[in-house]
Amino acid sequence: MNSADSLAGSFKNDFLIGAAVNGHTIVSQRELLIKHYNSLTAENEMKFESLHPAEDTYTFEAADQIAQFAREHGMKLRGHTLVWHNQTPDWVFDDGNGGTASRETLLARMKAHIMAVMQRYQDTSYCWDVVNEAVSDEGDEWLRPSRWLEGIGEDYMVKAFQFAHEADPAALLFYNDYNECNPAKREKIYRLVKTLLEQGAPVHGIGLQGHWNLTEPSLDDIRAAIERYASLGLKLQITEMDVSVFAFEDRRTDIVIPTVEMLRQQEQRYRQFFELFREYRDVLTGVTFWGAADDYTWLDYFPVSGRKNWPLLFDTEQQPKGAYYEVVHLSASRATEQ
Ligand code: GLA
Repeated sequence: MNSADSLAGSFKNDFLIGAAVNGHTIVSQRELLIKHYNSLTAENEMKFESLHPAEDTYTFEAADQIAQFAREHGMKLRGHTLVWHNQTPDWVFDDGNGGTASRETLLARMKAHIMAVMQRYQDTSYCWDVVNEAVSDEGDEWLRPSRWLEGIGEDYMVKAFQFAHEADPAALLFYNDYNECNPAKREKIYRLVKTLLEQGAPVHGIGLQGHWNLTEPSLDDIRAAIERYASLGLKLQITEMDVSVFAFEDRRTDIVIPTVEMLRQQEQRYRQFFELFREYRDVLTGVTFWGAADDYTWLDYFPVSGRKNWPLLFDTEQQPKGAYYEVVHLSASRATEQ
């Protein structure tokens, strides 16, 4: 498993190589996962709505299967995600009488959820995305309006990190966000995490989701983001990497196989990204892809419904793409240099 001719094996002295999985892909991509990845993230199965559909009901089966797969194959597990404005059921925010839950109720529910979930996976999950996507994309607005923020107030994040640390003192706790290399948003994320640290919140890392494409973000912006976040003294991980072959505004639906030019650009981008990651191996502890191969990617449905995308290092047949060889040869060339 994970020998030198595998992706994870090639970077075994640098950082973990992860993939997001679900109940279907741990079967359909089983061999690929075992050979090339040494860390897993549950794509949806550990989110609030999946695990905790009603106040007294926890549904752990699907998440348990993923944790079991990780244990069986000696892989790490990244917990994802505890407190988020999305994929969180309405009951959390309701008072049961048609009104909204009080601050005390919300904090008690948050704590109960974090305790139950983290303690269940304590033996497998070495880290958690405690708060996901709390920063606003829009203009000068700092924090994203959310029912957590409205119901508890700005300290909801400090509380979340404190509860998580209490639940599992050994777990590494992350703040995770997207558009993380956009300079304006980068500064908002930096300010948020800095503020959390000043308030004594046990934050250990920042997750850069890494949903990128062939042109954006620029390498300079990625480097600047890594430098800025690392200046807080935290570990960093790329947590949800994919490299879409379409720009975000590109709404074409007539491309049914990736063009030669798309693949060439993608190879070049992946090579540059991993060159950069290697430079920062002291602060970067993991690179997780949001999927394992192009036969299954959330980008097949988003943002253009029904349009296929090819954002990963393995193709629809789960065979290595040119981009895979770019990345792996990079690590091989380093081995011969040393
Ligand atoms: C965000 C979340 C992930 C996932 C992706 C889209 O990045 O953090 O859990 O939902 O969106 O698939």
